[in-house]
Amino acid sequence: MARVYNFSAGPAVLPEDVLKKAASEMLEYGTTGTSVMEMSHRSKDYMDLFYKAQNDLRKLMEIPDNYEVLFLQGGASLQFSMIPMNLAVKSKKMDYVNTGVWSKKAIAEAKKFGEVNIVASSEDTTFNRIPELDKAKFNKDADYFYLVSNNTIYGTRIVDFPDTGNVPLIADMSSDILSRKVDVSKFGIIFAGAQKNIGPSGLTVVIIRKDLIGLADDSIPTMLNYRTHSEGESMFNTPPTYSAYIAGLVFEKLLNEGGLDTMESVNKKKAALLYDFLDNSKLFKPTVEPAYRSIMNVPFVTGDDQKNADFIAQATKAGFVNLKGHRSVGGMRASIYNAMPIEGVQKLVEFMKAFEQNNA
Ligand SMILES: Cc1ncc(COP(=O)(O)O)c(C=O)c1O
Repeated sequence: MARVYNFSAGPAVLPEDVLKKAASEMLEYGTTGTSVMEMSHRSKDYMDLFYKAQNDLRKLMEIPDNYEVLFLQGGASLQFSMIPMNLAVKSKKMDYVNTGVWSKKAIAEAKKFGEVNIVASSEDTTFNRIPELDKAKFNKDADYFYLVSNNTIYGTRIVDFPDTGNVPLIADMSSDILSRKVDVSKFGIIFAGAQKNIGPSGLTVVIIRKDLIGLADDSIPTMLNYRTHSEGESMFNTPPTYSAYIAGLVFEKLLNEGGLDTMESVNKKKAALLYDFLDNSKLFKPTVEPAYRSIMNVPFVTGDDQKNADFIAQATKAGFVNLKGHRSVGGMRASIYNAMPIEGVQKLVEFMKAFEQNNA
């Protein structure tokens, strides 16, 4: 069976050359005579690759020196609890923007630790847009302001991040980290589960401004305190060694290929190919208004459940897999993360054109 074009929302497609390199090093990494999976995380060879991965991420995202890069576990979902546990310590008030399932889950956790102010929500239109952010509704004494930069399920993204003044801005960038350049200095914390644009699941990247580490007292669990992982240099306990290794290969590749400017322009081209087709199609319709469209996750529908099902079945047969939309939205969704080659999108569009001709 040949490799297919994998439009999964995550765990998602990884760059083929990274997979090949990992395969070539599977049995023996360097001169170690062992697989990376079999190496002690305290060995020099492993520590070298682990900290190189963190440093390469620093270079890629131009992370300032007053930020730490932590490689943690527990997925992005654990951050939904760690953030309020560690940061909601002064006013215990927190501002949240509600843009879908992932912000709702984060809000539910935050409510366990203090008072949540929903600054804006797009729930009334099934999250098909980013709501207007009215500064008058921001809490000036909030312990932090939280948003999701890219909504994986609905295919919306924030293009311009709000200025929250002295209130630390926290962003869940799970599904668009490394897809575009962002000014890290605007954020208090950026976090992401690895399994979309970074590498295999198991690794969670947390980029945290140093003054936000150590705010909580020792009553919170040791493993859930950012200070523990900062002091332990992300090796307080055994890190997700293999996931971090693959992440390192991905970072190295991106750096070698021109960094995030290059990646962003390729991503824009890929997204434009698909949206241009959808905007002109007689059969398929995009579900998100142009101003809010994600360049990572592109949901679309035909308006007819049978046609959606036929399309997904025929696409799968033709080697375009995982196009089914999230169960809460229905229809289709093409996730076109960094590792999806432009040919994958071109061929998908050709396939959709042919399907449209036969089914319009
Ligand atoms: C934006 C966003 N946040 C959080 C999550 C949850 O990530 P995890 O499964 O790593 O907890 C996801 C998963 O798809 C996501 O898309």
